[in-house]
Amino acid sequence: MNEDNLIEFEEIALERTFLAIKPDGVQRGLVGEIIRRFETKGFTLVGLKFMNVTRELAEAHYDVHRERPFFTGLVEFIISSPVVAMVWEGDGVVAAARKMIGATNPLTSEPGTIRGDFGVSIGRNIIHGSDAIETAQREVSLWFKDEELVTWKPQNTTWLYE
Ligand code: RTP
Ligand code: MG
Repeated sequence: MNEDNLIEFEEIALERTFLAIKPDGVQRGLVGEIIRRFETKGFTLVGLKFMNVTRELAEAHYDVHRERPFFTGLVEFIISSPVVAMVWEGDGVVAAARKMIGATNPLTSEPGTIRGDFGVSIGRNIIHGSDAIETAQREVSLWFKDEELVTWKPQNTTWLYE
C-alpha cells in the first residue's frame, strides 16, 4: 500500500453500527453464521462481548418502544438468556446491516437475509441492528465503553475500497 492509498482510505468517514445477536440467535447456534456474514461482506468488527443483559439496559435500549404492547415481553425476552453485542464499522454499514438483517417479521423478510433465512416469528427475530446513524451512535455508547472498542485497520482495505 503506498502513501497515497493510505491517505485516500483515511479520508473515508467510516460509520459504525450496533448489532446484537438476541437470545434466540445464541440458543440456536447462529453466532458463527451471523458473524461470518458481516465479516465476509467486508465490514470490520470493532467491538464484541458475550453478556447477560440487565433489565435496565434492555429497557434503555428499547426505550422508543416503551409504550408499545410488546415492550414488557420484549424486555423479558432480551434478558432471558445471553446475547452477543457487537459494533461493526464500514462505509454505509448502518443501512447495509439492516438490509442484511431483513424485515422485522421473519415471515416476510426476504430469503438471503438473516431473518429471512433463519426465523419464523416476529418476537424471535434473531438479531438487532441500529436503524439509523443517530440511533447507532446512541446504541454504541449505551452498550460499549470507549475503551471496549478497538480501532484497527484491516490489511485488506485496499481490496475492499477503491
Ligand atoms: P430491532 O430493533 O430488534 O432490530 O428490530 P426492528 O428495528 O426490525 O423492529 P422494531 O420496530 O424496532 O421492534 C423491536 C422489536 O420488537 C419486537 N416486536 N414485536 N409483536 C409485535 O408486533 C412486535 N413488533 C415488534 C420485535 O422482536 C422487534 O425486533
Ligand atoms: Mg428497531
